[in-house]
Amino acid sequence: MHAGKFPQRLLLSGLLACLPLLAQAGEAEIQGVYERSCKACHGTPATGAPQTGDAQAWAPRVAQGADILLDHTIDGYKAMPPMGMCMDCTEDQFLALIEYMSGTSLD
Ligand code: HEC
Repeated sequence: MHAGKFPQRLLLSGLLACLPLLAQAGEAEIQGVYERSCKACHGTPATGAPQTGDAQAWAPRVAQGADILLDHTIDGYKAMPPMGMCMDCTEDQFLALIEYMSGTSLD
């Protein structure tokens, strides 16, 4: 029996095949945080929050730059609550959430 090496190769190709799935897992995680924390307002026009996917509402906000957007998210801004009610979110997650909602990539 010399078949001992085959399972190892299968394992390696299996891992490589999983890489694109890992990237998708990041998006799914952001989507989950969005649904839990931001959607209540950013998916409800009556709250006055810029709505997810409304590029026009986001354009002047995105124009302020990532630093100001991050400050306003963490400290709160007018009716926007501090941390957007996601107390365990990281700065990277906030930036990803803003990109997700605005449909714009921040530099
Ligand atoms: C309780 C409602 C509420 C929740 C929850 C909420 N927001 Fe907001 N958000 C607002 C409102 C209202 C505004 C508009 C504030 C204004 O300009 O008057 C806003 C504005 C913003 C802005 C733009 C700030 C600017 O400088 O113009 C960002 C960025 C933002 N929210 C991110 C988030 C993120 C990320 C989450 C989830 C983690 C979140 N918000 C959750 C209500 C909310």
